[in-house]
Amino acid sequence: MCGIVAYIGPKDATAFLLEGLARLEYRGYDSAGVAVTGKSGGLKVCKAKGRVADLAAAVPARFKGTTGIGHTRWATHGEPSDANAHPHTDNAGNIAVVHNGIIENAEELRARLTADGAVFHSETDTEVLAHLVAAHTGEDTELEEAVRAALKHVVGTYGIAVVDARRPDRIVVARNGSPIVLGLGEKEMFAASDVSALVRYTRQVVHLEDGELAVVRADGFRTFTEDARTVTRQPSTVDWEVGAFDTGGYEHYLLKEIHEQPAAVERTLSGRLDERFATAHLGGLNLDARELREIRRVKILGCGSAYYAGEMGAQLIEELARIPAHSEPASEFRYRNPVIEADTLYVAVSQSGETYDTLAAVQEIKRKGGRVLGVVNTVGSAIARECDGGIYLHAGPEISVASTKAFTSTVIAFALLALHFGRIHDLSPADGRRIVGALKALPGHIRQILEQQDAIAKLAAEYADNAGMMFIGRVRGYPVAREGAQKLKEISYVHAEAYPASELKHGPLALISPELPTVALVPDDELLDKNLTTLGEIKARSGRVLAIAHREPDAKLADHCIVVPKSEPELDPLLLNIPLQLLAYHAAVALGRDVDKPRNLAKSVTVE
Ligand code: F6R
Repeated sequence: MCGIVAYIGPKDATAFLLEGLARLEYRGYDSAGVAVTGKSGGLKVCKAKGRVADLAAAVPARFKGTTGIGHTRWATHGEPSDANAHPHTDNAGNIAVVHNGIIENAEELRARLTADGAVFHSETDTEVLAHLVAAHTGEDTELEEAVRAALKHVVGTYGIAVVDARRPDRIVVARNGSPIVLGLGEKEMFAASDVSALVRYTRQVVHLEDGELAVVRADGFRTFTEDARTVTRQPSTVDWEVGAFDTGGYEHYLLKEIHEQPAAVERTLSGRLDERFATAHLGGLNLDARELREIRRVKILGCGSAYYAGEMGAQLIEELARIPAHSEPASEFRYRNPVIEADTLYVAVSQSGETYDTLAAVQEIKRKGGRVLGVVNTVGSAIARECDGGIYLHAGPEISVASTKAFTSTVIAFALLALHFGRIHDLSPADGRRIVGALKALPGHIRQILEQQDAIAKLAAEYADNAGMMFIGRVRGYPVAREGAQKLKEISYVHAEAYPASELKHGPLALISPELPTVALVPDDELLDKNLTTLGEIKARSGRVLAIAHREPDAKLADHCIVVPKSEPELDPLLLNIPLQLLAYHAAVALGRDVDKPRNLAKSVTVE
């Protein structure tokens, strides 16, 4: 979604702003803009609909300043256009604002400001902020005071950065529901909505909390609350490598991230397997064995693929620990006045740690006294900070909009949690060893699947031609089918529907025809015979079948098959999912889609 960058220091701000915006492109956007100022005074603003490259081409040669802000916009109020792109300025052209989030009372503020003489040039909610800050600025008012006073009138969510050409020695940033991170440099300071814009310049970062503001100068910063109370924030170190933000020679980030999975899984497992007691060490849970024994139920919450990873997690917890577990979309949970139980463990899943619906669900649980763990990739993110404890994925940054390596690492984190839980309950040491051994073998198994990429690419090109595809799986296979269908539709725009294999004959069998092929998950487990019967039912209706299986079914039951290595039954779903990622990727490539930035989607959905 929208991205913010800001710079203050001795160097030319514009170069950093354009480079930082390019780093944020993966989040999805439709226009971009920058504003700079400096000691020589005056505010320069340049905005362009389209790509950051279009903006860079539009920036005049003499567009220089030592203090600046930049933005990539994903339209919410008003169409994508030069006028609606940020930064927005006040009438006098002194103040410039960039904003992520939504101002809910924008119309009311706009009417009031217009009555007081403000002239609006865009349809955005953000422009009211520029006029509002100007309305609170006087000869002797510090910029930070004006911003703080302006925000008192605002209802909604925001991450903002503000500059004033009359005070080029500072940038003011504020956060309420939309992330802002400060980057600490040597005699220079940065700010952004996402650390990926900063890591090339600094690893020392400070995450603002909701309701906080900061005044940022070249030599430091001060953080304070909406009621002007100074708060002290210690910097933390980002451990992501700069190279992790490049495509590394792959054609797309998505392909790189699919291929990074063996290493990502190794990192998620690193230091967490206890072979002696055949269990997992999860230091960040902040729950001892006695507290864990008191848990009667596990409720997992996430959105999109994080929710499907949670479904696989719930299955693992039920199977290994025999504790009832269920995954629900956080976006639904937060609106239904959920009953929060003292003996339920709530687990929030989020790659970005910034998804607004998931964050709101966590806040609702905590407000009602529930205990929440986070399964999160981004260290220090809002959800990670809001939770009582959790498991970091350490999968490395995920740039492509579609989640792949974070999905896989999330399932690994759940396998560790289920193993830990299981060994506290009734999972035998022998079964614990069985799972530990299987987890250690997973990176090798994933590599074996990735080696089949060329064959999968051929199949993808063949199946991509259809208007739609059915994905089916039974019990453990059903979340795999859901995630497979999600991946295909989001990046290839081919319609895909997922069904439990057992439900096919209760309705969707009517759809089966040569024009609607089925991707069937057919693991070699206790349900194999049932799955083969379902394949027979599809073939009897002239449906085409692509099986993902541990051994090739009879040619009468499947037209094609991708064979995956066998793990333990509880962990098989994770491996069955990998070919579906490659299938979706190659289908999208065959159809000429914008693989890393699919239309209408953003990497992290930080608005309601
Ligand atoms: C799908 C996808 C989305 C995200 C969802 C949650 O490939 O990427 O469905 O999984 O928006 O995002 P996070 O995990 O950042 O909370």
